[in-house]
Amino acid sequence: MKILTLAGDGIGTEIMSQAVAVLNKVNDKFELGLTLDDALIGGCAIDEHGVPLPDETLAKARDADAVLLGAVGGYKWDTIERSIRPERGLLKIRSELGLFANLRVAKLYPQLAGASSIKPEIINGLDLLIVRELTGGIYFGEPRGIETLDNGDKHGYNTMTYTTPEIKRIGKVAFEMAQTRAKASGKKAKLCSVDKANVLEVTELWKQTITEMGEADYRDVELSHMYADNACMQLIKDPKQFDVMVTGNMFGDILSDEAGMLTGSIGMLPSASLDENGKGMYEPCHGSAPDIAGQDKANPLAMILSVAMMLRYTVKHEESAVAIEQAVSDVLDDGLRTGDILDKSEEGLSLVGCQAMGEAVLAKLA
Ligand code: IPM
Ligand code: MG
Repeated sequence: MKILTLAGDGIGTEIMSQAVAVLNKVNDKFELGLTLDDALIGGCAIDEHGVPLPDETLAKARDADAVLLGAVGGYKWDTIERSIRPERGLLKIRSELGLFANLRVAKLYPQLAGASSIKPEIINGLDLLIVRELTGGIYFGEPRGIETLDNGDKHGYNTMTYTTPEIKRIGKVAFEMAQTRAKASGKKAKLCSVDKANVLEVTELWKQTITEMGEADYRDVELSHMYADNACMQLIKDPKQFDVMVTGNMFGDILSDEAGMLTGSIGMLPSASLDENGKGMYEPCHGSAPDIAGQDKANPLAMILSVAMMLRYTVKHEESAVAIEQAVSDVLDDGLRTGDILDKSEEGLSLVGCQAMGEAVLAKLA
């Protein structure tokens, strides 16, 4: 299988080198037969080719079985023309590859309970999955833009839009994830669909469609609905009431950052973005963190855990995925912490940089 790595900008390059070292290691150890190639995306691609997603990158991504992505963006490109900003490269690759299903897991490593700003009893044992629609909604809806009105005032606008087929295909992924997780845990399958149906017609349709699917095909799944504002509140108040949450592009963006923080740091959160055939792009949920880029301060674990997700979902090699996840848990047991997951009140921890953290994981895989 062919794997394309797109390190991107900021801390993307630092965390990707650690992730690639880990991938090479398991590739040899388990004889996975993976071949690796790389390409440019985001700001570095703008510098080189004038666009955030060059045709060559897109062609390589189409040809690959899976893509590993670091992060894009940085101060340097914040002021360039909107249509070619680094983030547009990320949105375009998601859209061009049809990666409509974004799976974001917020799982608490027990070793990190003290690093979360939430009380340990609220988050102990937390393991929830956010299924975010990734190629539609307000992120892609037309019309969009900023225009100058006749009186000289400006008008900015976007369009939030979903069709029933778009809702159904993400709904199917979410219901099936709820079933799969229930089978693994022995608990009842639970799905919470998040909308703002009290205000937005588009999400009224979302709620209706998900409700109909539940009644028609997924009677074994306990389905609930929640307004997005309440969901934000409930995630802080009692996150363990949730197992799988499904929502549109923008609410999913917001809720997944919030869920990430429950686990101590977004620096621990991997994600998978899948198309209809299970081809995927795997990336950490966090961004390029330009404030700490190039200082060896980034947490490479979300990127490394994204490799594990890739091995599980695309390569379909559970053993190597588990080996990586175990190695990550082992280095946490050893007390190694990057700055974002360091609980200063806990004794016996050592603050390490990105490279040392990556190397420690690698050593556990020997
Ligand atoms: C994410 C990020 C992206 C998004 C940005 C960088 C475009 O926040 O993956 O969550 O909003 O989808
Ligand atoms: Mg985000």
